[in-house]
Amino acid sequence: MSIPRSLKIIRDEHASLAAMLQSMRMMVERGPGDSRKSFFDVVRAMLFYIDEFPERLHHPKESNLLFPKLIKHAPHVLGAIDRLERDHMYSEKAARELQHLLLSWELLGATRRPAFEKAFKQYVDFYLEHMNLEETVILPEAEQHLSEAEWRALDAAFAENEDPLTGQHAPSAEYEQLFSTIVARAPSPIGLG
Ligand SMILES: [Fe+2]
Ligand SMILES: [Fe+2]
Repeated sequence: MSIPRSLKIIRDEHASLAAMLQSMRMMVERGPGDSRKSFFDVVRAMLFYIDEFPERLHHPKESNLLFPKLIKHAPHVLGAIDRLERDHMYSEKAARELQHLLLSWELLGATRRPAFEKAFKQYVDFYLEHMNLEETVILPEAEQHLSEAEWRALDAAFAENEDPLTGQHAPSAEYEQLFSTIVARAPSPIGLG
């Protein structure tokens, strides 16, 4: 069987999210400098993107479709899946909390900066570790055990994501502005800024 399309989509979405996190980390380390408005606009746009794509489209499909199918074939990965499920529940809350901490820094000033920086660092480390566990344990096991019919169901579900950040899909009209803000002003590897 050739490599299932959904497996490739999951890996591409992980790669684009990792690039986004790296780019955000670079921005946060540099800080706002003289371009305060631009800094907050872009970091806010990036956090919002994470809320819109990975949190709403990527994680629920792993939790609802991929993990239950895999557990049936490979019960020994239950421990890893249990941890990943807890991560999914935590990360949605954490993304909202970060947006709030960023807003506090923007509206209340520099005394709120360390709280954002601390939470942001934890969030990036957490997320990279989460994706690494999926890539090293879950995806190889899934590739080994899932049937063609199961992959067809996953392929259909993940094909709907069309995450523009993977570079494979143009953003829909509603997301055009958001993505051009990110790409024009964020630093490499995600943007041109
Ligand atoms: Fe996940
Ligand atoms: Fe994932």
